[in-house]
Amino acid sequence: MEDMPMPHTIPFLKVRNLETRYGQRVIMRNISFELKKGEICLIIGGSGCGKSTLLRYMIGLMTSPPGHIFYQGIDFALADPIQYEQISQQFGVLFQSGALWSAMTIAENVALPLKRHHPLHPDVMTDLVSLKLALVGLESYKDLYPSEISGGMRKLAGLARAMILDPNILFFDEPSAGLDPISARHLDDLILNINRSFGTTMVIVTHDLESIFKINSRVIFLDAETQSILADGLAKELRDHSDKEKIRKFLSFHSDR
Ligand SMILES: Nc1ncnc2c1ncn2[C@@H]1O[C@H](COP(=O)(O)OP(=O)(O)O)[C@@H](O)[C@H]1O
Ligand SMILES: [Mg+2]
Repeated sequence: MEDMPMPHTIPFLKVRNLETRYGQRVIMRNISFELKKGEICLIIGGSGCGKSTLLRYMIGLMTSPPGHIFYQGIDFALADPIQYEQISQQFGVLFQSGALWSAMTIAENVALPLKRHHPLHPDVMTDLVSLKLALVGLESYKDLYPSEISGGMRKLAGLARAMILDPNILFFDEPSAGLDPISARHLDDLILNINRSFGTTMVIVTHDLESIFKINSRVIFLDAETQSILADGLAKELRDHSDKEKIRKFLSFHSDR
Protein backbone atom coordinates (compact mmCIF):
# COMPACT_ATOMS: atom_id res chain seq x y z
CA MET A 1 0.00 0.00 0.00
CA GLU A 2 2.86 2.34 0.78
CA ASP A 3 3.82 2.42 -2.88
CA MET A 4 0.33 3.41 -4.00
CA PRO A 5 0.23 7.11 -4.84
CA MET A 6 -2.59 9.05 -3.19
CA PRO A 7 -5.33 9.79 -5.76
CA HIS A 8 -4.68 13.54 -5.67
CA THR A 9 -1.02 13.01 -6.49
CA ILE A 10 -1.80 11.13 -9.70
CA PRO A 11 -1.45 13.56 -12.62
CA PHE A 12 -4.63 14.04 -14.59
CA LEU A 13 -2.81 13.22 -17.78
CA LYS A 14 0.68 11.86 -18.14
CA VAL A 15 2.60 11.39 -21.39
CA ARG A 16 5.83 9.47 -20.90
CA ASN A 17 8.51 8.95 -23.55
CA LEU A 18 5.92 8.87 -26.30
CA GLU A 19 7.10 8.40 -29.85
CA THR A 20 4.78 9.59 -32.61
CA ARG A 21 5.13 8.16 -36.09
CA TYR A 22 3.48 7.38 -39.41
CA GLY A 23 4.62 3.88 -40.33
CA GLN A 24 8.42 3.92 -40.25
CA ARG A 25 8.59 7.71 -40.24
CA VAL A 26 9.15 9.02 -36.73
CA ILE A 27 7.71 12.50 -36.13
CA MET A 28 8.60 13.07 -32.43
CA ARG A 29 10.60 11.14 -29.84
CA ASN A 30 10.69 11.17 -26.06
CA ILE A 31 7.61 13.31 -25.57
CA SER A 32 7.07 13.57 -21.80
CA PHE A 33 4.85 15.91 -19.83
CA GLU A 34 2.16 15.87 -17.18
CA LEU A 35 -1.01 17.88 -16.85
CA LYS A 36 -2.81 18.75 -13.66
CA LYS A 37 -6.57 18.88 -13.52
CA GLY A 38 -7.80 22.26 -14.73
CA GLU A 39 -4.54 23.15 -16.43
CA ILE A 40 -4.40 24.72 -19.90
CA CYS A 41 -1.56 23.49 -22.06
CA LEU A 42 -0.76 25.03 -25.44
CA ILE A 43 1.07 22.74 -27.85
CA ILE A 44 2.96 25.07 -30.15
CA GLY A 45 5.60 24.91 -32.86
CA GLY A 46 6.10 25.48 -36.56
CA SER A 47 3.80 24.16 -39.26
CA GLY A 48 4.26 20.43 -39.90
CA CYS A 49 6.29 19.76 -36.74
CA GLY A 50 3.80 17.22 -35.39
CA LYS A 51 1.32 19.06 -33.16
CA SER A 52 -1.83 17.55 -34.68
CA THR A 53 -0.17 14.15 -34.72
CA LEU A 54 0.51 14.36 -30.97
CA LEU A 55 -3.13 15.34 -30.42
CA ARG A 56 -4.27 12.31 -32.42
CA TYR A 57 -2.28 10.03 -30.10
CA MET A 58 -3.66 11.76 -27.02
CA ILE A 59 -7.28 11.26 -28.06
CA GLY A 60 -6.71 7.67 -29.18
CA LEU A 61 -7.13 8.21 -32.93
CA MET A 62 -3.58 6.88 -33.22
CA THR A 63 -2.34 4.34 -30.74
CA SER A 64 0.94 3.96 -28.90
CA PRO A 65 2.32 0.85 -27.17
CA PRO A 66 1.53 0.56 -23.43
CA GLY A 67 3.37 2.74 -20.93
CA HIS A 68 3.21 6.05 -22.75
CA ILE A 69 -0.12 7.76 -22.14
CA PHE A 70 -1.97 7.67 -18.82
CA TYR A 71 -5.27 9.24 -17.87
CA GLN A 72 -5.79 9.49 -14.11
CA GLY A 73 -3.25 6.73 -13.70
CA ILE A 74 -4.81 4.36 -16.24
CA ASP A 75 -2.62 3.28 -19.13
CA PHE A 76 -4.63 4.34 -22.18
CA ALA A 77 -3.19 1.50 -24.30
CA LEU A 78 -4.05 -1.18 -21.72
CA ALA A 79 -7.52 0.08 -20.86
CA ASP A 80 -10.21 -2.58 -21.24
CA PRO A 81 -13.21 -1.60 -23.40
CA ILE A 82 -15.17 -0.30 -20.38
CA GLN A 83 -12.24 1.78 -19.10
CA TYR A 84 -11.54 3.01 -22.62
CA GLU A 85 -15.14 4.16 -22.94
CA GLN A 86 -14.96 5.81 -19.50
CA ILE A 87 -11.79 7.65 -20.43
CA SER A 88 -12.78 8.70 -23.92
CA GLN A 89 -16.20 9.91 -22.77
CA GLN A 90 -14.34 12.49 -20.70
CA PHE A 91 -12.84 13.92 -23.90
CA GLY A 92 -14.29 16.74 -25.91
CA VAL A 93 -12.56 17.46 -29.19
CA LEU A 94 -12.83 20.51 -31.43
CA PHE A 95 -11.29 19.68 -34.78
CA GLN A 96 -9.82 22.30 -37.04
CA SER A 97 -12.83 22.58 -39.37
CA GLY A 98 -15.48 22.28 -36.67
CA ALA A 99 -16.39 19.00 -38.44
CA LEU A 100 -20.17 19.37 -38.44
CA TRP A 101 -22.51 17.17 -40.49
CA SER A 102 -23.91 19.31 -43.27
CA ALA A 103 -27.28 17.48 -43.46
CA MET A 104 -28.02 18.04 -39.77
CA THR A 105 -29.09 21.24 -38.03
CA ILE A 106 -26.81 22.83 -35.47
CA ALA A 107 -28.94 21.39 -32.66
CA GLU A 108 -28.86 17.90 -34.19
CA ASN A 109 -25.09 18.10 -34.57
CA VAL A 110 -24.65 19.10 -30.94
CA ALA A 111 -27.03 16.35 -29.76
CA LEU A 112 -25.15 13.63 -31.62
CA PRO A 113 -22.70 12.48 -28.87
CA LEU A 114 -25.54 12.54 -26.37
CA LYS A 115 -27.72 10.31 -28.56
CA ARG A 116 -24.84 7.93 -29.02
CA HIS A 117 -23.70 7.65 -25.41
CA HIS A 118 -26.60 8.72 -23.18
CA PRO A 119 -29.91 8.54 -25.00
CA LEU A 120 -32.34 10.47 -22.80
CA HIS A 121 -35.90 11.63 -23.17
CA PRO A 122 -36.04 13.93 -26.24
CA ASP A 123 -37.18 16.90 -24.12
CA VAL A 124 -34.21 16.48 -21.78
CA MET A 125 -31.83 16.25 -24.73
CA THR A 126 -33.34 19.40 -26.25
CA ASP A 127 -32.79 21.23 -22.96
CA LEU A 128 -29.19 20.05 -22.64
CA VAL A 129 -28.45 21.05 -26.23
CA SER A 130 -30.01 24.48 -25.68
CA LEU A 131 -27.92 24.96 -22.57
CA LYS A 132 -24.67 24.25 -24.42
CA LEU A 133 -25.68 26.37 -27.40
CA ALA A 134 -26.49 29.23 -25.01
CA LEU A 135 -23.04 28.84 -23.48
CA VAL A 136 -21.42 29.58 -26.85
CA GLY A 137 -24.03 32.19 -27.81
CA LEU A 138 -25.71 30.20 -30.58
CA GLU A 139 -29.09 29.33 -29.10
CA SER A 140 -31.06 31.28 -31.67
CA TYR A 141 -29.25 29.53 -34.54
CA LYS A 142 -30.05 26.01 -33.43
CA ASP A 143 -32.39 25.14 -36.31
CA LEU A 144 -30.07 26.37 -39.05
CA TYR A 145 -27.75 24.14 -41.07
CA PRO A 146 -23.95 24.52 -40.95
CA SER A 147 -23.89 26.09 -44.44
CA GLU A 148 -26.23 28.82 -43.20
CA ILE A 149 -23.89 30.14 -40.49
CA SER A 150 -20.40 31.67 -40.58
CA GLY A 151 -17.13 29.79 -40.12
CA GLY A 152 -16.75 31.32 -36.67
CA MET A 153 -20.21 30.12 -35.69
CA ARG A 154 -19.44 26.64 -36.99
CA LYS A 155 -16.43 26.55 -34.65
CA LEU A 156 -18.66 27.62 -31.77
CA ALA A 157 -21.17 24.92 -32.67
CA GLY A 158 -18.30 22.42 -32.74
CA LEU A 159 -17.33 23.60 -29.28
CA ALA A 160 -20.91 23.19 -28.00
CA ARG A 161 -20.86 19.65 -29.38
CA ALA A 162 -17.45 18.95 -27.81
CA MET A 163 -18.93 20.02 -24.46
CA ILE A 164 -22.25 18.20 -24.61
CA LEU A 165 -21.06 15.30 -22.42
CA ASP A 166 -19.49 17.71 -19.88
CA PRO A 167 -15.91 16.64 -20.69
CA ASN A 168 -13.14 16.79 -18.11
CA ILE A 169 -10.64 17.53 -20.83
CA LEU A 170 -11.06 19.51 -24.03
CA PHE A 171 -8.73 19.16 -27.01
CA PHE A 172 -8.52 21.87 -29.65
CA ASP A 173 -6.68 21.70 -32.96
CA GLU A 174 -5.89 25.23 -34.19
CA PRO A 175 -9.13 26.73 -32.85
CA SER A 176 -8.49 30.15 -34.39
CA ALA A 177 -7.44 28.88 -37.83
CA GLY A 178 -9.56 30.33 -40.62
CA LEU A 179 -11.35 32.80 -38.34
CA ASP A 180 -11.36 36.57 -38.65
CA PRO A 181 -9.51 38.29 -35.78
CA ILE A 182 -12.66 39.24 -33.87
CA SER A 183 -14.10 35.71 -33.99
CA ALA A 184 -10.70 34.28 -33.08
CA ARG A 185 -10.36 36.50 -29.99
CA HIS A 186 -13.97 35.73 -29.03
CA LEU A 187 -13.15 32.03 -29.16
CA ASP A 188 -10.04 32.61 -26.99
CA ASP A 189 -12.24 34.40 -24.41
CA LEU A 190 -14.74 31.57 -24.46
CA ILE A 191 -11.99 28.99 -23.98
CA LEU A 192 -10.69 30.91 -20.95
CA ASN A 193 -14.20 31.33 -19.52
CA ILE A 194 -14.96 27.64 -19.87
CA ASN A 195 -11.68 26.75 -18.17
CA ARG A 196 -12.37 29.14 -15.29
CA SER A 197 -16.05 28.27 -14.88
CA PHE A 198 -15.86 24.50 -15.18
CA GLY A 199 -12.23 23.74 -14.37
CA THR A 200 -11.94 21.87 -17.67
CA THR A 201 -8.42 20.70 -18.45
CA MET A 202 -7.44 21.86 -21.93
CA VAL A 203 -4.92 20.88 -24.57
CA ILE A 204 -4.77 23.45 -27.33
CA VAL A 205 -2.71 23.00 -30.48
CA THR A 206 -1.96 26.36 -32.04
CA HIS A 207 0.61 28.44 -33.82
CA ASP A 208 -1.42 31.65 -33.45
CA LEU A 209 0.67 34.04 -31.35
CA GLU A 210 -2.33 36.24 -30.54
CA SER A 211 -4.05 33.21 -29.01
CA ILE A 212 -0.90 32.08 -27.25
CA PHE A 213 -0.49 35.38 -25.42
CA LYS A 214 -4.18 35.94 -24.84
CA ILE A 215 -4.48 32.55 -23.17
CA ASN A 216 -0.98 32.99 -21.74
CA SER A 217 -0.62 29.68 -20.00
CA ARG A 218 1.87 26.86 -20.16
CA VAL A 219 3.26 26.11 -23.60
CA ILE A 220 5.00 23.01 -24.85
CA PHE A 221 7.14 23.81 -27.88
CA LEU A 222 7.59 20.98 -30.37
CA ASP A 223 10.64 21.25 -32.59
CA ALA A 224 10.81 19.41 -35.93
CA GLU A 225 14.59 19.64 -36.18
CA THR A 226 15.32 17.83 -32.91
CA GLN A 227 12.04 15.89 -33.06
CA SER A 228 11.43 16.72 -29.43
CA ILE A 229 10.05 19.16 -26.88
CA LEU A 230 12.40 22.13 -26.96
CA ALA A 231 10.73 24.08 -24.16
CA ASP A 232 7.99 23.68 -21.58
CA GLY A 233 7.02 26.78 -19.62
CA LEU A 234 4.89 29.91 -19.44
CA ALA A 235 4.48 31.70 -22.76
CA LYS A 236 5.68 35.15 -21.69
CA GLU A 237 8.53 33.81 -19.58
CA LEU A 238 9.82 31.73 -22.48
CA ARG A 239 9.51 34.68 -24.86
CA ASP A 240 11.50 36.93 -22.56
CA HIS A 241 13.90 34.53 -20.84
CA SER A 242 14.29 31.27 -22.75
CA ASP A 243 17.95 30.35 -23.24
CA LYS A 244 17.03 29.08 -26.72
CA GLU A 245 16.99 31.66 -29.48
CA LYS A 246 14.59 29.62 -31.58
CA ILE A 247 11.97 29.80 -28.82
CA ARG A 248 12.43 33.52 -28.21
CA LYS A 249 12.19 34.21 -31.95
CA PHE A 250 9.10 32.06 -32.44
CA LEU A 251 7.33 33.78 -29.55
CA SER A 252 8.53 37.30 -30.32
CA PHE A 253 7.36 37.60 -33.87
CA HIS A 254 4.21 39.80 -33.66
CA SER A 255 4.01 39.43 -29.89
CA ASP A 256 5.15 42.83 -28.69
CA ARG A 257 2.00 43.47 -26.65
N1 LIG B 1 -1.73 10.92 -42.33
C1 LIG B 1 -0.42 11.16 -42.45
N2 LIG B 1 0.40 10.24 -43.01
C2 LIG B 1 1.73 10.47 -43.13
N3 LIG B 1 2.34 11.59 -42.71
C3 LIG B 1 1.58 12.53 -42.14
C4 LIG B 1 0.16 12.37 -41.98
N4 LIG B 1 -0.33 13.49 -41.38
C5 LIG B 1 0.71 14.30 -41.18
N5 LIG B 1 1.86 13.73 -41.64
C6 LIG B 1 3.21 14.32 -41.57
O1 LIG B 1 3.61 14.38 -40.21
C7 LIG B 1 4.27 15.60 -39.94
C8 LIG B 1 3.58 16.29 -38.80
O2 LIG B 1 2.27 16.67 -39.22
P1 LIG B 1 1.24 17.40 -38.29
O3 LIG B 1 1.14 16.68 -37.00
O4 LIG B 1 -0.02 17.57 -39.07
O5 LIG B 1 1.95 18.81 -38.07
P2 LIG B 1 1.39 20.17 -37.42
O6 LIG B 1 0.02 19.88 -36.86
O7 LIG B 1 2.39 20.54 -36.37
O8 LIG B 1 1.34 21.18 -38.51
C9 LIG B 1 4.29 16.38 -41.23
O9 LIG B 1 5.53 16.20 -41.85
C10 LIG B 1 3.20 15.76 -42.07
O10 LIG B 1 3.51 15.83 -43.43
MG1 LIG C 1 -1.85 20.65 -37.40
